[in-house]
Order: sequence, then C-alpha cells, then structure tokens
Amino acid sequence: MGMPTVYTTAHVLSSVISTAKKKGTVGFVPTMGALHEGHLSLVERALEENFLVVVSIFVNPTQFNNASDLSNYPRTLDSDLELLSIFDRVIVYAPTVEDIYPKHDFFEPIDLGALDTRLEGAFRPGHFQGVVHVVRNLFHIVQPHSAYFGEKDFQQLAVIRRMVKLLNFSIEIISCPTYRSANGLALSSRNMRLTDQGKSEALIISETLNYMKNLGHDDTPSKLMEQGVAHFSKGKLTLEYLEIVDAESLTKLTDVWSDHAVCCIAAYCEDVRLIDNLAM
Ligand code: PAF
Repeated sequence: MGMPTVYTTAHVLSSVISTAKKKGTVGFVPTMGALHEGHLSLVERALEENFLVVVSIFVNPTQFNNASDLSNYPRTLDSDLELLSIFDRVIVYAPTVEDIYPKHDFFEPIDLGALDTRLEGAFRPGHFQGVVHVVRNLFHIVQPHSAYFGEKDFQQLAVIRRMVKLLNFSIEIISCPTYRSANGLALSSRNMRLTDQGKSEALIISETLNYMKNLGHDDTPSKLMEQGVAHFSKGKLTLEYLEIVDAESLTKLTDVWSDHAVCCIAAYCEDVRLIDNLAM
C-alpha cells in the first residue's frame, strides 16, 4: 500500500502494463477524478478480478457541451491519490490533453443510433461521441482485459458496449451497481458541488424512482411516468426529463411494458445537473 504510482505519458504506462500482463490480467477503471466510494467500489471489484488495476483520471473536454460545466468540474488529484492509497496493485494514469489527443489522432464519430438522440443524448449534443472518443483512445493506450463502469451512467454503458462491438475491441465491459449513500442519493463527483441542503433536496430523485418501482406495472408506463412527475414535483429540483425506457433500445415505453424497463431521471439541483436510474 502507499500512494499509487502516477503515469502521465502513454508510452511509459504501456510498457509497465506489458510487463504486468506477463503475470496476470489488467483491469481498467476510467474516471474523471473527484473520486468517491462509487469509484472505489469499481476499483475493488477490478482488484478482485485482476492482477493489476489501472485507474485513469482525466477530465475529458470533448464530452462537455457546456463550458461552465467543464470549468466547474471538480479536480482533486491529491485527494484522489490519497483515496487510492488504501489499495495495492493499483496504478494511475493522469495524462495531459496532448497525451490523450495527440496531433495525429483521428476520430470518426461512430453510429450510436438512438443512443445518441434519446435521454442524455437529447440534452447533451455531442456528449456521447466525446465519451466514445476518449474511451477509445484510453482503451488503445491501456489495452486492458476488462473495463469497469457504474450503472448510474446507464446510457453511457450502452454506448460503450456498442463502441466495443463496432470497433472490435476484445475488452470485457463489466457493469457495477450504482453506489448510494445510506439515504439513497446516487454518488457522483458532481455531488461535491452541492450544499448540505442541496444534498438533502436531491433525495427526491431516488425517492421518486423507488416510489415508481413500488407502484409496479399495474398501470401503463405513461401513467406511471405521470405519477412519477407528480411525486417529483413535491420536491424543489428542476426536472429535465423523467422517462421509462426499454433498457436495450432506450425507446420510450408508453402503453406497453417491455421485459427490461428502466426509469431515467435528469434534474438540476442548485444548478448542478444530476442523473439517476432504476430498473422498474
Ligand atoms: O464516466 C465517466 O467518468 C466518464 O464519462 C469516462 C467514462 C471516464 C470518460 O471520460
């Protein structure tokens, strides 16, 4: 244990990873830093399943469609390293923009179909192509056996799986359950920007999801969404969307339930954009 070694250049990192691969598998946890227990749970899972775990810490400019969101995104490298120091067998890749996006880098947007236009895609144009671009470049640099993503970013997971298929990566994508505080708030690096009052007001998100789940499938998805919106509006947050969608296609469910339905919510709390989802 102790502070993890931090690599800032792809070529040095690659040679360390090649050596490690002679001893066992390499797991990868991509992050934008401002680590919390949710990230640590991904690292723990990756450590259980691999010889070495690479954690990348990089606030990716290409996935922000809003300049102030990018500049306000928390950057806490020292405390991130401190949090990771409880682990053995973890190394950190904290690159510069030039290292991830070298001059010769070429990126052709991939066909994300409805994944790019529904839910988050509708409100954050270009966001998922930015995610695909950075994760593709990170996968080329790290070349892990498996990569770990949280289910809180449910749509991102679907996008990454599609990218892996389209670009023929032989990397196993492992989804890990959303990590919640004891009162239900989904952990997010963005929560750091909330006051205590904001954190308590934000509970309306998970409360609404649980309320809807408990109502079950007696009514149509449309009716349940109406009930969900009515419940949500008892709180103080500004709703961006609340939708029940099919977990695979992300198409909105209205009259009929599909086998795997998920309710996704995006809302603003104290000007901070929060998302969450729950299987219905
Ligand atoms: O989920 C995140 O933190 C980011 O979208 C990711 C996957 C690290 C890409 O920048």
